[in-house]
Amino acid sequence: MPEADVKELKSFYTEIPQKTEGFFLKGCGSLDWGMKNRMARIFNPLSGRTVMLAFDHGYFQGPTTGLERIDITILPLIPYADTLMLTRGILRSIIPASANKAIVLRASGGPSILKEMSEEEIAVDIDDCIRLNVCAMAVQVFIGGEFEKQSVMNMTKLVDLGTRYGIPTLAVTAVGKDMARDARYFRLATRMCAELGAHYIKSYYVEEGFETVTACCPVPIVVAGGKKIPELDALKMAYNAVQQGASGVDMGRNIFQSDSPTAMIQAVRAVVHDNETPDKAYDLYNTLKNRNEKSR
Ligand code: R5P
Repeated sequence: MPEADVKELKSFYTEIPQKTEGFFLKGCGSLDWGMKNRMARIFNPLSGRTVMLAFDHGYFQGPTTGLERIDITILPLIPYADTLMLTRGILRSIIPASANKAIVLRASGGPSILKEMSEEEIAVDIDDCIRLNVCAMAVQVFIGGEFEKQSVMNMTKLVDLGTRYGIPTLAVTAVGKDMARDARYFRLATRMCAELGAHYIKSYYVEEGFETVTACCPVPIVVAGGKKIPELDALKMAYNAVQQGASGVDMGRNIFQSDSPTAMIQAVRAVVHDNETPDKAYDLYNTLKNRNEKSR
């Protein structure tokens, strides 16, 4: 008889009920295990937030300032990011598989900046997402754009495909040049994406009423950094966003176009994960920047 079957040696802890743990992310409690596991790699379970380093800009605008040589400018930042948002071309050609970071893969594309941007299609097969072990697929959604419906359908198709295999979809709300960037617009865009199945949403921060955007979106929101602004202002934006309900940042240019990208990403982390104030995080930025300059 195997030793495991000898009852006297077993501990069943009959007096202790089995723990049934909830899931730490807003609106994600009913997801399947694989989805939750991937979301828990993107979002830090301790803070409930993420610092996503976005460098997928080349998918529509080529070698963006700061991304001309990703091997030189981005690889040193990877240790400080929770998640990398990028294209499969850059993932395979430059990012070491041993980096072991959550990957959010750019999954839509087509038009360049020279054309109508909203005419994107799904640009990656689900098989390749599985092969690359991605934690989520990112798709641009152009609410109010010329090809609004096509972009929404791209998203719902990805949600369906990802659901088959436990891969979440990140809906990226894209704002056209002539469109209003206000809370009313982002309430509409983020809520539509969530209602149609996106597992989390990327929005922009707005000064007025951002807390209403996060309040009425049933799943986590992360904010894009947008165009490069002074470091202190970018830290204030990240701070205000997380204090008003965002679950982190998906930040690119305000990190990799900073005077000191490694200092900036660490300052952003302090704001996002440790609730550090913008002024203190800016002090940290300057301290790290000076240290880096001295060690050169
Ligand atoms: C742009 O279309 C990409 O989705 C970027 O990942 C996103 O805009 C975040 O980058 P940034 O902080 O530079 O706006």
